[in-house]
Amino acid sequence: MPVKVIVGMQWGDEGKGKIVDMISGEANIVARYQGGANAGHTVVVKGEKYVLHLIPAGVLRPGKTCIIGNGVVLDPEAFIAEVDGLTARGFTIEGSLFISSRAHLIMPYHKRLDRASESSSAVTKIGTTGRGIGPTYSDKSARLGIRVGDLFRPDYFKSRLAQAARQKDSFLGSFYGEGGSDVDGVMETYMAYAERLKDFVADTGVMIRAAIEEGKSVLAEGAQGTMLDIDQGTYPFVTSSHCVSGGACAGLGIPPSSINEVLGVMKAYTTRVGEGPFPTEIKGGDGEKLREAGGEYGATTGRPRRCGWLDAVVGRYAVEINGVSSIALTKMDVLDNLPEIKICTAYELDGKKINSIPEDATDMSRVTPVYESAKGWMSRTAGMDSYSTLPDAAKRYIDRVEELLKAPVSIVSTGESRDSTIIR
Ligand code: IMP
Repeated sequence: MPVKVIVGMQWGDEGKGKIVDMISGEANIVARYQGGANAGHTVVVKGEKYVLHLIPAGVLRPGKTCIIGNGVVLDPEAFIAEVDGLTARGFTIEGSLFISSRAHLIMPYHKRLDRASESSSAVTKIGTTGRGIGPTYSDKSARLGIRVGDLFRPDYFKSRLAQAARQKDSFLGSFYGEGGSDVDGVMETYMAYAERLKDFVADTGVMIRAAIEEGKSVLAEGAQGTMLDIDQGTYPFVTSSHCVSGGACAGLGIPPSSINEVLGVMKAYTTRVGEGPFPTEIKGGDGEKLREAGGEYGATTGRPRRCGWLDAVVGRYAVEINGVSSIALTKMDVLDNLPEIKICTAYELDGKKINSIPEDATDMSRVTPVYESAKGWMSRTAGMDSYSTLPDAAKRYIDRVEELLKAPVSIVSTGESRDSTIIR
């Protein structure tokens, strides 16, 4: 495998962390291509739980090279906390983890802007994680950003910081009534970060392309999910990066021709955090059952996730857009105690049946899901590791997912640990 991309097929939180950790056994390099510390990838190894926000899940396997690609926005404070946390738990990070010098830095004013915008009644509330993601990508596109490599050119860094802070402070002051930045203080803090970061920074694009050339295998780890993609998701209720598999090319500096496999990760039901349309959301009753059974609380913010039935319209869209070659169906065991399980197979909009995602979020919020329903298996699949032991109703559910999404299910996850996995 030259490059295998792992991509979320819904609104994030599909359980990508566990799948990346599992698959990374066969990879030489594991590389994150977008997003920032808004992600929360949970991995359980030998009963120990790890929540990774920035560092690729491959770090938990010895001998892997892990890369934070140029498409990621890096919060140095969060990064250092994560490195220190893993080091304290016995992992050796130095020498195996690299950050692209082209990745953009999240600055204190980005977080202030994110939070001010979310708490203002004058701006559409997105329900962000408050980690400064949107404002950092905005500055990147506006060519006002500061990159990781700039940390090592202090004069240039300072002039960029002074320029950006003047602009942000003016806006924060006039629009949100907030105070200004302490430019000298930020400079001092970021120069201290530079000391901590210096041994991790590299031209990671060169590293990955050389590895591909040598026939090594690369796992490109996506964060969030297809429906949160800035272009292909439910805009404006999205994150600010390209979560889809295509984002791996620009976010790592690799050619499309190097990708030979896309593994789509999809939960056996659906969740969403934050605002925005969610056609199959279940309010109350079964929705709460799913939340409790699935532990559906944000790994980054602790917010309760909105829960609902599996949406095959979303799934098909994700298969098409990402070129999903096979699916990892996760958290199957969360459905164990439901007497009836529904799948949304189409939508109705203004009295017409549709099979695709409306381009507009307002239309998406008006659709009525068309459901088919099946009897649940009402028995324990949690912890199962063999397909043959699955109850028939669970097998039928998997078959129906494959039929509706037109892609094979190659992995079924039945619990948090590495062992609770069925390979088909
Ligand atoms: P932001 O990425 O913090 O700007 O948030 C934008 C939207 O993406 C919000 O609805 C967030 O809840 C959502 N989001 C961001 N990261 C994640 C994630 O890792 N999982 C699920 N939702 C996320």
